[in-house]
Order: sequence, then C-alpha cells, then structure tokens
Amino acid sequence: MQTMGFGHLTVRFDDRVLRPRPWTLAQSLWAAELADGLGPGPILELCAGVGHIGLALAALVGRELVLVDADANACDHARFNAAAAGLRTEVDVRHGRMDTVLGLDERFPLVVADPPWVPTSDVARYPEDPRWAIDGGEDGLDLARTCLEVTGRHLGPGGAGVIQLGTPTQATLLADHLHRRPGIGLRIDEIRTVDGANGVLARVSRA
Ligand SMILES: C[S@@+](CC[C@H](N)C(=O)[O-])C[C@H]1O[C@@H](n2cnc3c(N)ncnc32)[C@H](O)[C@@H]1O
Repeated sequence: MQTMGFGHLTVRFDDRVLRPRPWTLAQSLWAAELADGLGPGPILELCAGVGHIGLALAALVGRELVLVDADANACDHARFNAAAAGLRTEVDVRHGRMDTVLGLDERFPLVVADPPWVPTSDVARYPEDPRWAIDGGEDGLDLARTCLEVTGRHLGPGGAGVIQLGTPTQATLLADHLHRRPGIGLRIDEIRTVDGANGVLARVSRA
C-alpha cells in the first residue's frame, strides 16, 4: 500500500492499480472552473481509478460525486480515499463497466473521464502499469469513444465535461468522431496540452 499527495488530498493506491499521475490535477482544476457556470447536481467521473481526480474536484466545488470504474481494487481504494478526504458531500463509488452502472434517467451537469488511451502497440512501454488501466485499443481511443457515448447519454442540458487523452492528435480524432456521429450530441470545444507532452485534456459540451 502506498500514499501520495494530490492537491489537498492524500490518496491511497497499490501496485494493482494505475499510480496517480500528479499532472492530472489539471483536469480537476479545469473542471472546477467549468462548474461555476453550471446548474445544480452531482459530478460524474468515468474511469475514476482510485478516485483522486474526482475527489479533488468535489473538494473544490462542494458537489456530490459518482465515481465509476470497472476494476474492483480501484473501487476499494476510491471508497477509502473518499472517506479519508472528509468531504461534506456524498461520494457514490460504482464498480462496473461505465455503460452498465448508470440509471437511464440519471443526469449530471459535469462529467470528467480518464479512459485508458495508450494504443495497444505501445502498452509494453509502460511495464509497471496494469494493462487494462492503459490499453485503449488500436488507436488508443476505444474507451474514450465509450466515455463520449456515456457522457452523451447522461450529460444534463447545458452541462460540460473534461476528458483526458494522450495526444492532441487523439483529441482531433475524437472531435472528428463526434462530428461524424451527431447522435452522440456532443462536441469538443477546446483542447489543452498539460505538462509538456504528458497529457491532453479536451472540454466537451452539448453540440
Ligand atoms: C487510465 S486509468 C485512469 C485511472 C485514474 N483516473 C487515474 O488517472 O489514475 C483508466 C481506468 O479505466 C478503468 N476502466 C477500463 N475500462 C473501463 C470500463 N469499460 N468502464 C469503467 N472503467 C473502465 C480502468 O480500470 C482504469 O482504472
């Protein structure tokens, strides 16, 4: 078992899950800025891992939080980290695939998503990371596309989202995907590169 500081939080994790990456605090901070202009309601985090991004965000904005991850160990850590964070708002950790654990009528004004985004051919470059936490399929975007479909179904009117990716090219590919699939009902408004080339964030809203 290990711990690390993340914003004002101390988060717990172990070797079975993806080690929290410090730069991802930028996702919490950007989403917190967006929360200012949104209506009431809980935050949804897809592919939450041990929950640090969503928990730091919830601590900043004081909203309830739903954390979703398909890995049972990650969810156990997320529950521990939520309790340790001492938030005044409720945190609901749901273990399961993101397209199965949300009710049809659930709506969220703010969604953050951190899908696996490493192309399968590059996964061997990260031997310390659990494969299922980083393998995003041939172009790295299999789970990112699923995140957008789920976000399209559950983002409330006027809502906003921030999705994490690996490269600006991936963000452009996803923007094209949304353009070709208007039924998802989302668009990418802005793309930011964070911490040099280590990560990319894309802001999404209703198309
Ligand atoms: C890149 S990690 C992100 C974890 C955490 N947010 C972080 O930044 O460290 C991706 C996470 O997605 C989860 N995941 C993969 N497929 C999923 C699915 N279909 N539904 C929900 N979670 C999934 C993995 O278990 C993993 O924890």
